[in-house]
Amino acid sequence: MDPDRRIVDVEEVPDDSTLLFTVREGFDEKEVLLVRLADGIAAWRNYCPHWTDVRLDKGSGAEFRGGELVCTRHAATFEPGTGECSHGPCEGAYLEEVDVAVEDGAVYLTDDDYEFDHVGPKSDRDLSSGRIGFSGN
Ligand code: FES
Repeated sequence: MDPDRRIVDVEEVPDDSTLLFTVREGFDEKEVLLVRLADGIAAWRNYCPHWTDVRLDKGSGAEFRGGELVCTRHAATFEPGTGECSHGPCEGAYLEEVDVAVEDGAVYLTDDDYEFDHVGPKSDRDLSSGRIGFSGN
């Protein structure tokens, strides 16, 4: 596995919540959440299919209820292994999957659409200009 695509140790992924990391797709940063399963780790883009501007993990771990991932905005629930919305306004819709793999106790990003950037929420960096973005107001 490519060490530049190593995300975290498997042990760092919580049992009852999610671990957030950030990938790059060109100049854009995208958030992905890791979910621990009975037989491995799944990774889903961090937005709700009901309202795509709503994050499931707001930076401190998404909520779990009865073994399902919860969107707290309108209480949709998602199967952590398939990403399917099992109940709620987007029932039957799916979270967007990101490919990861486990090797030697670590989780690696294997999805060719993305580059690994960092663990944690996305920053406000504007990568297109090579400068740190900030508001001077
Ligand atoms: S935004 Fe997630 S259930 Fe409505």
